Amino acid sequence: MNKNHQIIIGDAKEKLKDIKPNYITTIITSPPYNIEKNYGKYKDNISRSEWEELIFEVFNLSKKVLKRNGSFFLNVSPVPDKKTKEIIPLDAISYFLAKEAGFFLRNSIIWNFNNMQNPTKRLSGRWESILWFVKDIDNYIFNLNDIKIPYLTKNDRRLDPNGKRNPTDVWYFDRVNNMTKKKLGLSDVPTMFPTPMIERIVKMSSNKGDVILDPFAGSGTVAVASNNLGRKSISIEIDNRYEDIISKRIKNEFESKI
Ligand SMILES: C[S@@+](CC[C@H](N)C(=O)[O-])C[C@H]1O[C@@H](n2cnc3c(N)ncnc32)[C@H](O)[C@@H]1O
Repeated sequence: MNKNHQIIIGDAKEKLKDIKPNYITTIITSPPYNIEKNYGKYKDNISRSEWEELIFEVFNLSKKVLKRNGSFFLNVSPVPDKKTKEIIPLDAISYFLAKEAGFFLRNSIIWNFNNMQNPTKRLSGRWESILWFVKDIDNYIFNLNDIKIPYLTKNDRRLDPNGKRNPTDVWYFDRVNNMTKKKLGLSDVPTMFPTPMIERIVKMSSNKGDVILDPFAGSGTVAVASNNLGRKSISIEIDNRYEDIISKRIKNEFESKI
């Protein structure tokens, strides 16, 4: 049990109500996509309207627990409809739900990756969205200097030879592959965030000592990244199987980045 990293087992729709208002600096989460992934306790096959109700409720409750200058990062992807196989843009649907809950969209980030399946009746999907919402469009944390990246070529360094450039809204991060999951003993976790990607979000949107929340925590990558960067975290997860996994990951994968 690590007092800086709380793990709450239960339904986000209920457990978010137990968090103090104006307490959380950043929410980073990837909800289930409703595509029948095998999550264990949670059945990933609710109807689209139930999914929308869940996300809308989570947006509303999240707005209450977020600080005035807080951010909400939602990772969703285009998904094939279970019956028609038509592609459903979950990011577009989520955008309108977040607007209705009173959030402002700051960036629509494209997360590009390589390792994924290759369907033969449409192009191979190689991106997911990370929608960055803020509570107050005139007042939010953005630590740009903490996430600058090297120039691509030496000649590109402009005025400062050691200069760095601003990241764009297109990000490349490898998905967590099966080999890495096996090494971590997490082979049966279906959808893990890459830790370096979450570290970038934590750095840019919060400061040391702040509290970061993931209401759909899964294996707890948000808690791991927060710990590495001297932030606190709260993980809410419906499946109690993850409680042990999250606390072990916080301990075993600690790699101080501060
Ligand atoms: C896409 S996964 C999150 C994976 C996570 N980003 C990681 O790095 O491991 C979504 C998680 O949400 C959980 N979940 C589904 N419905 C929930 C609810 N109503 N409240 C809390 N957790 C829920 C599922 O059990 C699943 O572990």
